[in-house]
Order: sequence, then C-alpha cells, then structure tokens
Amino acid sequence: MCGIIGYIGDKKASDILISGLSHLEYRGYDSSGIALMNNNNVEVYKAQGKLINLINILKEKENHLLNYNIGIGHIRWATHGAPSIVNAHPHTCCFNNLTLVHNGIIENYQEIKEELIKEGYNFLSQTDTEVAANLIAKEYTKTKNLLDAMQMAVKKMKGAFAFCAIHKDEPDKIVVAKRNAPLVIGLGQGENFVASDIPAIIEYTKKAIYLTDHQVGVVKKDSVEIYDENDNKVENKIEYLPFEAMAISKMGFKHFMLKEIHEQGDVVRNVLSGKLLQIDKSIKLDEFKLNKEQIKKISRVQIIACGTSLHAGLVGKYIIEKFAKIPVDVEPSSEYIYRDTIADENTLVIGISQSGETADTITAIKQVKQKHSHIAIITNRADSTMARLADSLLPISAGIEVSVAATKSYMAQLISLYILSIYLHEQLGFSDFKEEIQNLKQELLELPNKVEALLEDTENIKKIAKKYSNFKDFIFIARGINFPSALEGALKLKEISYINATGYGAGELKHGPIAMLDNNMPVLAILNTGIVYDKVLSNCEEAKARQARLIGVTNYMAEKDIPLFDDLITIPFCSDLISPAVNIVVLQLLAYYISEYLGKDVDQPRNLAKSVTVE
Ligand code: G6P
Repeated sequence: MCGIIGYIGDKKASDILISGLSHLEYRGYDSSGIALMNNNNVEVYKAQGKLINLINILKEKENHLLNYNIGIGHIRWATHGAPSIVNAHPHTCCFNNLTLVHNGIIENYQEIKEELIKEGYNFLSQTDTEVAANLIAKEYTKTKNLLDAMQMAVKKMKGAFAFCAIHKDEPDKIVVAKRNAPLVIGLGQGENFVASDIPAIIEYTKKAIYLTDHQVGVVKKDSVEIYDENDNKVENKIEYLPFEAMAISKMGFKHFMLKEIHEQGDVVRNVLSGKLLQIDKSIKLDEFKLNKEQIKKISRVQIIACGTSLHAGLVGKYIIEKFAKIPVDVEPSSEYIYRDTIADENTLVIGISQSGETADTITAIKQVKQKHSHIAIITNRADSTMARLADSLLPISAGIEVSVAATKSYMAQLISLYILSIYLHEQLGFSDFKEEIQNLKQELLELPNKVEALLEDTENIKKIAKKYSNFKDFIFIARGINFPSALEGALKLKEISYINATGYGAGELKHGPIAMLDNNMPVLAILNTGIVYDKVLSNCEEAKARQARLIGVTNYMAEKDIPLFDDLITIPFCSDLISPAVNIVVLQLLAYYISEYLGKDVDQPRNLAKSVTVE
C-alpha cells in the first residue's frame, strides 16, 4: 500500500517521479504528491484522488520545474487520516526544512507525537508520516547530518516503513530507510532512483540494490551507501532486474485486466516449463528443497494466504489431500497470526502471495518460521520479502500483473499447486492414481490451448455480462474442487463492479442463503461432469423454484437439463480435477465485462490496492 519514488540526477525530476508513480498506482490512489529540490529550495505539490489530478497541477509549471533534478514522490492508500490534501505526502517538518514520503505504518506514532507536541512541535495532518518527519527533523537539530538523524530516528520508531527524505541543507542526497516495507534503489549512470517496486524504474535501469530490513541508505547521483542497523557501512549487493519495460504496457487491450486474462495460456506454459515434460515422466521440482525422506515426515500442511491467493490455496487443499494424502489446513493469514497455531518441524507451511509483500502473510510466515516448519512460498515476485523468507521458493513467473484484481497470478498459483501435489505424490512413492495422474498431466499440457480456445470467442460471455450488469446482488455456487472457484468468481465481481456477490458451497444454499432468493438475485452455478454434478443440479432446481435467474457454467450439460438455465456458458471439455483452471477464466471475463458495462475503473477499483503492506 502506498508507493514511493525518488530521483536524483540531471534530468527533470518531476517527469521521472510522475512516470514512476503512474506505475505504482496499483498500490493506492487516494492522493499523490511530489517534493522537488533545487539547491536549497524545496517545492511540494499535492493532489487529492488519482494521479491525473497531480499531473494537471504540474502542467502549468512545466518550465519552472526544468531545473529541479532531485525529488521524492508518493501515491497514497489512506491509513491514518482521510484521503485529503493535508494528509497527502510528502510531509514537511515544522521547521520547514525536511521533507518525507513514507510507505507503512508507524505503530508508536501517537506516543512520539505527544512528546513532540510537549516540546513545541506542531502538526497539520493526522498522519503518522508527519510525526516521522518531525522526529527525524528533531534528531537533525542535534546531528546536523541527515544520515545520522535518520539512523537515530528509525531506532525510536516501531512498525513498518520505507522512507525517502530530503533536506534543504543537504541538497545533494536522498536518505532512505526500510523496515517491513519494500524499497529498491535503481542504479543509473550519473543518476539514481528509489522506488517501492520495480515497474516504477524499469524503463530507466535494470540494475538495483534491494534494501533489507533495518538498513538506511544515502543516495547521491553518483553513489549509493548503505548502512546496517548498527550503523556500519555494508557492501552494495547489486542485482539485475528480471523485467522488461514491455511487460507494463497494455499491448492494445483496453485494460490491463483484459490483457492479463488473455496471457493465461502462456502463463500456464511458463509454470509447466522444465517441470512437466512428458506424462510418463516424474515432475521435476528442484525448487522444492525437502528430500524424499523429509517429505515422508511431513505430517500436516498449512496454507496461509489472503484474498485471491487464499482461494488458490483452497484448490490446493483439495489436490494435496487427494494425491499426497496429508491433511491440509487453509487459513487467511490475518486469522492465522492471532491463534495458537500448531506447527512443528514436520509441518509444511505454504505461503501463497502474488505480490510477496502482503503484511499479514509475512507476519504469519515469520511467526511459524520460529517453529522450524519448512516454509514454501508460491509467489509471482521472486524478489519480494516473502521470497526471501522461503526455505523453498516456488516462483510462478506470471510476469508483472498491473491490474489490481488478480487474474493470471491466480492461474499460475493454481498450476504451481497442481505441480506440487503431483510432485509430493511421486516423491512419496504412492502407486495408486496412476491413470488419474497421467490424465492430469496430459490435461495440464493441454490447458494452455483450452484457455486460449475459450478466449477466442467471448461474445456469449459479453452478452450475458450486459444482461446481468444491472443486478445489485449475485450468488455463486459450486461444490467440491470448484467451491473455491465460486468464491473467487464472486470476489472478482465485487472487487471491480462493486456488486454484492457471495460464493457458497452449493449444498449450503438451503441452510440460509436461499432465504434471499427471488428474481432479483441471480445464481451462477458451476457444474462440471463428475461426482458433484447431480448434486449441484439439484441445488439449481431449488434456486429455480424460488424464481432465481440461473446462469450455468459447465463443461458438459445433458440436453434435458439445459432448459433449467436462463443462460449457459460452456467451457472446453475437461475433467473436474482441472476444471477450476478453466472455469475461472469465464468468471474473470464475466466480472470484467460487467465492470466495463457499468463504466467502472476496472484496473484500479476504489478502496483496493494490489500490494497490501499493512496488517
Ligand atoms: C489484495 C489484492 C488482491 C490479493 C490480496 C492478497 O487485496 O487486491 O488481489 O489477492 O491482496 O495479495 P497477495 O499479493 O498476497 O496475493
């Protein structure tokens, strides 16, 4: 949540900061702001709402800003205080010489604020960031050195932060600090960059230093110095960034979400590549670091994740329990943290996260790490905080996902879980399910073509989306391995269209939700051939008897059952086992087109952020 950016060099800083912030908008868009420095002069510009509002303000200053070559910027997802101009970053201390942008939450900011007020400091906003700015400024009165002041101040702060600070009396540097929030320094020729995330800087450089927790750094145009928590200088660990600038273009699609939905065939190919070669060969998964003997000792699996990743985890439970025969618990990270969870060295903990930066999941992983469980992380960001905590890192390489609503990363998570389940089965030496495993491997190999076939003709889905776009409530039902698909389909719809949509196990319909049904509450049912088909069909009959309009998503439907449905979407034929990876494409498209018809901001839905770095 919140994105920060910094630039120091010879170019017009405002252009680089704005371009960077435009690639960080997925982290929040309640307000934005930049501070620009030219010698000992600092100017701050802020706007409420989307970045375009700031861009419009800066348009009138084009020439004036030409000589400002240093700056810091911020895009906000409000935590402390309303999304107003006064709460927008950058924040300047009350001496008016130090300016700060911040991503994270300072947990003890109230205590610090009270102390500072007693000492005569005053505050304009409700933010924790303004408190941090004043605390650093207070230390500066003693040290007269921005690096020292930052080092002293961060030791007094609890919580999470990534900071970029500039000071009027030190016009040749940006001082940065990190704890439990991401921060990367991009290295250029005669210029350097700071950002919360790579997309903000990838068009300028492919070389970077990832700050680790408790580090503080001084970024000048020709040098970068990093210090550890004991204030000792450390060696710069330079890494090469794995992304292409191309990945952050819409490539002709109207929205990133639609582009990302359409990339899913290739995403499946990528995840399978090098792991599943032929159906009669064992899965190769070198990234999984437990050997056969250690795998045999696993007595339970715990999957922890949030949002869409949690739904992937629920599919994972189904397939891991089936093939590896190990009990699996799936829990939202935010709940896992505040329980006496039972885990030990024989527990395999799987953390799933597209961003790898979700604060709740990071905290949960850190907690369980102390119990010596093996931590496997399935993430789309091999460069993330979570990836760095992994004992086994299973990167899903779906490419950068810009749209806030996760689509292709979910697909990649599903495929990783199929691979992991089969791998565990094979390593455990089970001899049953031989045919089923071979069929599943075959279906995984065929999946990209099926997904692409489905995406080739979306007219029916568009038509149905239009027909239902004005309903205020939706129910999604399914059973078995597609129960998580119902949850994820409903989540996608509410995230981007703001329609009230809830997913239920179809069998649960009659235990409460059925009371809501009438012809204003459409029911979308997922029915695949398999053991639950008849049961879901009966649940559909029950819904129809209450006048609910029925939309069926199916891979096959008997002629006699078709009239029950008001609308039907047919997916390419596949087994029940693999069907979550096909059904979800329909549900993503349905949510997308409904949101589009309603004229909503598909890629940046209100109140959401793609990377949730606060608990
Ligand atoms: C946010 C995003 C969701 C995502 C969830 C978990 O709420 O908007 O799309 O599913 O965070 O994020 P993670 O990065 O851990 O998968």
